[in-house]
Amino acid sequence: MADTIKHVASPLARQTLLDSDLTRPVAGGLPIRLLPWLQVVKIGGRSIMDRGHEAILPIVDELRALLPEHRLLILTGAGIRARHLYGVGLDLGLPVGSLAPLAASEAGQNGHILGCLLAPDGVSYIEHPTIASQLAIHLEATRAVVGSGFPPYHHHEFPGSRIPLHRADTGAFLLADALGAAGLTIVEDVDGVFTADPNGPDGKQAQLLRETSAAELAKQKGTLPFDPTLLEVMANARHLARVQVVNGLVPGRLTAALRGEHVGSIIHTGARAA
Ligand SMILES: Nc1ncnc2c1ncn2[C@@H]1O[C@H](COP(=O)(O)OP(=O)(O)OP(=O)(O)O)[C@@H](O)[C@H]1O
Ligand SMILES: [Mg+2]
Repeated sequence: MADTIKHVASPLARQTLLDSDLTRPVAGGLPIRLLPWLQVVKIGGRSIMDRGHEAILPIVDELRALLPEHRLLILTGAGIRARHLYGVGLDLGLPVGSLAPLAASEAGQNGHILGCLLAPDGVSYIEHPTIASQLAIHLEATRAVVGSGFPPYHHHEFPGSRIPLHRADTGAFLLADALGAAGLTIVEDVDGVFTADPNGPDGKQAQLLRETSAAELAKQKGTLPFDPTLLEVMANARHLARVQVVNGLVPGRLTAALRGEHVGSIIHTGARAA
């Protein structure tokens, strides 16, 4: 057989890509960090943006004040308009791959709002293809950009559910990990991750988990303040060793988190320490 196959000199040329025991020696190494100085911040659609100026303006002030200290990729969630959109789309029988880009555009609308408010500071909204291929040049020209947190799976969204599984939290983590960013902070309207929804029926018993891991949370029953698929991608993280979930309604928490302080829930991922 070897005589009839024209091999290209490559460590993977003589083997199938389907056997991870064979590919691991070549593909199992740690990828390089593309933007090691980048801080990624995910701003909740429902928890922050939908509350209007009372919640948004103090966060915008904090982001503005952080610009001299950090270069930021600010990603927004979809919020209430996406819930309405899911309601109409599901009623019409739209498949998940059609709903995903529509919800992503709602997240993008929230991003445009933040982009407008931060425009005097040189911050603009940029689209997914620009994030994918021109983030470095944008962040060389300015201190921060805003984008939609949704991953651009569109019609490739996994059909496990009619509601897109991979939403803004998962998208923010995938990007931050792929870029080898310095950190990801998820901004919510609660102090962090609790043992149960603090606003749910058992909220009084819910306890704040100041420090936990994706593996521990995967064992916990009940809801989380982020997409469940975030736990799956955290388990396979390559760079981001931890994520912090903070309360964006409390002034100063986001700033403190970006300064490395422990002010919310720190969730350890499966990434090996460098
Ligand atoms: N285990 C939990 N710990 C903390 N909050 C929880 C938990 N389970 C559910 N929640 C709820 O999640 C809410 C946040 O909702 P959600 O995550 O949908 O908002 P968001 O992140 O702003 O939305 P979006 O995905 O549109 O950005 C909190 O206000 C809280 O009530
Ligand atoms: Mg959330």
